[in-house]
Amino acid sequence: MTAKILDGKKVAQKVFDSLRKEISSRDPKPRLAIIRVGDNPASKIYTSLKKKRSEEIGINTEIYSFQENINEKDLLSRIKEKEAISEGIIVQLPLPRNLDEKKILNAVDPQKDVDGFTAVNLGKLLQGEEKLVPATPKGIIRLLEEYNLSLEGKRVVIVNRSVIVGKPLVALLLNRGATVTICHSQTKNVAEHTRNADVLISAVGKSKFITSEMVKEGAVVIDVGISKEEGRIVGDVDFEEVLNKASYITPVPGGVGPMTVAMLLENVMLAQSFYNKFKKVKK
Ligand code: GUN
Repeated sequence: MTAKILDGKKVAQKVFDSLRKEISSRDPKPRLAIIRVGDNPASKIYTSLKKKRSEEIGINTEIYSFQENINEKDLLSRIKEKEAISEGIIVQLPLPRNLDEKKILNAVDPQKDVDGFTAVNLGKLLQGEEKLVPATPKGIIRLLEEYNLSLEGKRVVIVNRSVIVGKPLVALLLNRGATVTICHSQTKNVAEHTRNADVLISAVGKSKFITSEMVKEGAVVIDVGISKEEGRIVGDVDFEEVLNKASYITPVPGGVGPMTVAMLLENVMLAQSFYNKFKKVKK
C-alpha cells in the first residue's frame, strides 16, 4: 500500500483564502501583537513567518522584541501595553530561563490569547469548550477532518506530552470520541504502544524516530517533528519506509506546519469576533 498524502499546504491555503475574504469585509482590521524575548534563532524565523502570513491576509501585525535580560515586571507591563492595542497577542516560546513562563502566559487576557496557552483557555478545553485552542493541535484535527478521517472509537497514540501539542491534543481527541495514549521520554516501550495506533501523532524532533516497525499497517501517521538533517528540514517519521505501510501520512515540510500558522490566524479572526468591534463592509 502507498499512503495518501495529507496535504497541509493545500488545506492551509484554503483556510488562508477564506480568512482573507472574511477579513477584507472587516473594518478595522484585526491587530496581532507578537512578543519575542531574546535571540533564539528559531523564534526569529517563526515570528517572521507569522507576521508575513498574517499580513498577506489583512491582519495588522507587529513584532515587539525585548532583550534577553528584561525583568519580569517590565515584560509584564510591556505585554499589557501591547495587548491594549491588539485583538490578539502571542508570547513566543521558549522564554529565557530567568522568566516565569507560566506567570507570563497567564497574564495574557484569555479573550486575546490566540495561542490558547492561558490556564483559562486550556481549562475550558478540558471542560469540552473549544474557544481559543492551541494552533498545532487544532491544525492536526482540521487536517484530519478535511480528509474525512473520523476519530470516533479510534486508538490514537501521541508521542509528546507538552502543553503546546500533546496535552491539548488529548482533550480535542477525547472530545471527538478517540481512545488516547500519550508516550513520552519515560515511556518504557514506545513501539509497543505505537504499533496499536490507528492514528499515530509524533512530535519529538528526532529524525527517523518513527520507523516502519513502529507503525500498524494502514495507520494514519501525523508528523509534527522538525529537525535538520544535512541542511534539510525533516520530520520524526522515516517517510520513505512508512509511506508503504500507512494509509495516510503528512509530509515535512508541507504537513502540520502550514496548518499551525493557518489555525493561529483563524484564532486572531475569532478573537476579534469576540469583541465584535468591527463593521462589516460590503466588498
Ligand atoms: N514555540 C513553539 N511553538 C509555539 C507556538 O505555537 N506558539 C508560541 N507562542 N510559541 C511557540
